[in-house]
Amino acid sequence: MGSNIIELKNICKNFPGVVALDNVSFNVKRGEVHALMGENGAGKSTLVKIITGVYERDGGEIIFDDRAICPKSVHESSQEGISAIFQELNMVPHLSISENIFVGQYPKKNGVIQWQVIHDEARKMLSEIGLKLDVKAELATQSTAIQQMVAIVRAINTNAKLIVMDEPTSSLDTQETNTLFEIIRQLKEKNITTIFISHRLDEIFEICDTVSVLKDGRYEGTYEAAKLTKYELVKKMVGREVNQKRRIVECEKSFEEGYLCEILHAKWKNKVKDISFSIRKGEILGLAGLLGSGRTESAKLLFGCNTLDDGEIFYEGKNVKLKTPRDAVKRKIAFCSENRRVEGIIPNLSVEDNIALVHLPELSNVLGGIDKKKKSEIANKYIDELMIKTPSAKQKIKNLSGGNQQKVLLARWLCMQPKLIILDEPTRGIDVGAKSEIEKLIHQFSEQGISVLMISSELEELVRNCDRLIVIREGENIAELCGEDIHEETIIQKIAEHHNTGEGIN
Ligand SMILES: Nc1ncnc2c1ncn2[C@@H]1O[C@H](COP(=O)(O)OP(=O)(O)OP(=O)(O)O)[C@@H](O)[C@H]1O
Ligand SMILES: [Mg+2]
Repeated sequence: MGSNIIELKNICKNFPGVVALDNVSFNVKRGEVHALMGENGAGKSTLVKIITGVYERDGGEIIFDDRAICPKSVHESSQEGISAIFQELNMVPHLSISENIFVGQYPKKNGVIQWQVIHDEARKMLSEIGLKLDVKAELATQSTAIQQMVAIVRAINTNAKLIVMDEPTSSLDTQETNTLFEIIRQLKEKNITTIFISHRLDEIFEICDTVSVLKDGRYEGTYEAAKLTKYELVKKMVGREVNQKRRIVECEKSFEEGYLCEILHAKWKNKVKDISFSIRKGEILGLAGLLGSGRTESAKLLFGCNTLDDGEIFYEGKNVKLKTPRDAVKRKIAFCSENRRVEGIIPNLSVEDNIALVHLPELSNVLGGIDKKKKSEIANKYIDELMIKTPSAKQKIKNLSGGNQQKVLLARWLCMQPKLIILDEPTRGIDVGAKSEIEKLIHQFSEQGISVLMISSELEELVRNCDRLIVIREGENIAELCGEDIHEETIIQKIAEHHNTGEGIN
């Protein structure tokens, strides 16, 4: 038995106008946790899809478990012993949780599907990772994080020798991520290999033994994680240095008098209990808090997705009622959602149509047609500014890499020239280089007087960018930090200080 579980030799893959993989060769050892790193569009997911038989390769060879393989479908690769969690979850939303875990391999007795066994087993597997769920519930009714955990359980349920995880943590919080890492460690003890993809560098150094880097579809090298610094890794991926310094503005002085927007004693269902905050013109205000603390729900009140049960919103000095997103858009409020798949992209439309979506009224000419030239111009400007990797503005957005889809969404809202832009996890799935570009852009917007409300689970991101920060816990704002007082430790401490109610937080 060779020491490598998988050997990739000169793998090539082209799409129209794109060389996604250009002679990629590297090996993965048995039992290791091997990171696959690279910028958005570097070719990581394409490689995953070739290994798992979703795409056919144009050239090259794959040796898996000492045998040359050429899987033509996910089913074939799983029979070889390869299992995967895909970046775009390929779950069946209208089936139950347990059906999703066993799909395609339902246990049978005398030709009859053993439903009781399926439900019991599913329940057992989920409770082993600390999840107590109604396994008969439709998957679609569950949060993205739960769906992701179900995908993980399904992947480890197949007796695979190699499990490939494409950004499994992007919708998980710290606690869920730790659970996943515990699972990966257990797999490792059984000599099962994991290929792990993430844009969160800390995770790579926490869980991975080895790191392979792709850049623009080419293989850059394989390194021992313990011998690599974060700084070196970023340089290998991006090919340049990345600014990760904190933005400092003397906040009291530099903002114009008065507030653009105030929300007072807001109440919404049992998620928002009593939230008040205000945003100055040109200010970057952060909302910090745990998952489920009411950050997103509060922000949605400002965009008319949720309507106040009680409380008031003042905007440009007036008491306003925001009943629908249309009311908000009319007032130049933009909202870039954390959930690009559900609330965001329209897969079969082009990149430019996805960008122009909210501006169609403005792009209409006198005859009622769409000004196509202007539409392309706007789209191309943002493709350049945000470095969106696509062969052209006409490409269907579903063909872009995950991170590049996220950038298109951001472009859609930025080009509406908002007065207030709400960013909910704006850099989820975005690589370090692009992240710093996007942050720069956000700073420029703030300099132009646009107010920004930013939600992020990455405290570092809030600390780097926000002028002021509101800490939210269980539907109430419990602290406000300003300028120099914004530190990760202080935020964590504020959240913990109020941790005396004994309620669950999830
Ligand atoms: N089905 C497809 N049709 C056309 N082009 C595609 C298709 N799938 C991927 N591409 C292109 O191939 C390149 C590599 O994409 P891939 O999804 O592998 O990147 P990635 O490294 O996974 O990026 P991310 O970190 O953003 O997920 C990109 O330029 C992408 O636009
Ligand atoms: Mg990808």
